[in-house]
Amino acid sequence: MSATLEKARDTVADLVKLDILSATTPAFDNDITRKQIARTFISDTITVPTKEMYAYATLSSLGDDVYHEPTTLELEAHIAKITGKEAGLFMPSGTASNQIALRSHLKQPPYAVLCDHRAHIYKYEAGGAGFHSGAAVTPLIPKNGHHITLDEVKAGMIYGPDVHFAPTEVVALENTLNGTIFPQEEVIAISNFVHSKGVKMHLDGARIWHVAAETGTSLEELSRPFDSVSLCFSKGLGAPIGSCLVGTREFISRARRLRKLFGGGMRQTGILAGSAAYALTQNFPLLPRVHALTRKLEKGLEEIGVGITSRAETCMVFYDAYSIGTDYDEIAERASKLSDPLHLGGSRLVVHIQTSEQAVDDFLALIAEIAKEKKDAGFVKPTTQANGLVRDVYVRRSN
Ligand SMILES: Cc1ncc(COP(=O)(O)O)c(C=O)c1O
Repeated sequence: MSATLEKARDTVADLVKLDILSATTPAFDNDITRKQIARTFISDTITVPTKEMYAYATLSSLGDDVYHEPTTLELEAHIAKITGKEAGLFMPSGTASNQIALRSHLKQPPYAVLCDHRAHIYKYEAGGAGFHSGAAVTPLIPKNGHHITLDEVKAGMIYGPDVHFAPTEVVALENTLNGTIFPQEEVIAISNFVHSKGVKMHLDGARIWHVAAETGTSLEELSRPFDSVSLCFSKGLGAPIGSCLVGTREFISRARRLRKLFGGGMRQTGILAGSAAYALTQNFPLLPRVHALTRKLEKGLEEIGVGITSRAETCMVFYDAYSIGTDYDEIAERASKLSDPLHLGGSRLVVHIQTSEQAVDDFLALIAEIAKEKKDAGFVKPTTQANGLVRDVYVRRSN
């Protein structure tokens, strides 16, 4: 090699290299991040791997998943087994899992997917059903405000010879949805009807773990009414990345090809499968404590007089800031200024395996303080209107 070429290569290597640890430490101190996570109510997707999870995961096999990676295959087989399905497929995200499931079920347009209007698959996946599958979506608004019912599915499903409509080919349910548990008898009734029409059932079970942990119902029983189920490891279970799609062998082999087509064929996924397995073993048993902490949060809010808009059935509770005369921006702003700050979104409070009890106590103390201030300033809690809404009508005394 000429000296000139050697020098040129050294220069290129100098330009390419990056000491990322020096560049990001201490600005991104993980101990600080872990403390922040313990005080963040925004989502459970922010949960982070522990040192123990990492240590376990690094022992995983080093295969290439496009050519079938041993640890990942083991994880897929395990999830298929516990959900009572023939096969499983590791996915990079819950969105990929849901969208590839739809694409795998739906073969020849026109067709429609029916779901709850709040469903992730419809509302938060960037219009993926239309983009990836060319599917129309029929979003249903449940009258009971909690879950769609068999009667609503019957009324909302499109079948029959009228050529104006795209026939329903998949009914997609979500469990939990906003942290609430879909009554299993209603799921079964919907499934029996939907299947009698030759239509497929998909479950977005990103947080189905919470239903199993809370009710003691097996994943097999919860999954039985569905042709496909997507389960996430990276939310309540606290793994860094990944979901698993399960279904029949034929469905999963189609999904495997579509995963490649969508650019989701990953390589050394062993470390991710190892993290997921660690989460199943070590973190799943922590969920009942999470749910108890969420109920404590709800009870504390109610004792202060805060309206609850969606109850704490698992790891989420939704509250009405207007019911004590404030708004979410004010609460978030005040929370961020505490000596030990709390991190909040809007009306949704999410509790997770890394939430500290202190964070819950501090949040309730802050809410109690704000409620008292508003009351002292003359805020009178409005009576609920006939339509159930309170937020636009709050009243202030003039003193
Ligand atoms: C119910 C539900 N399904 C699917 C997803 C999508 O998961 P991901 O963010 O991994 O794409 C989410 C994300 O939070 C979710 O809450």
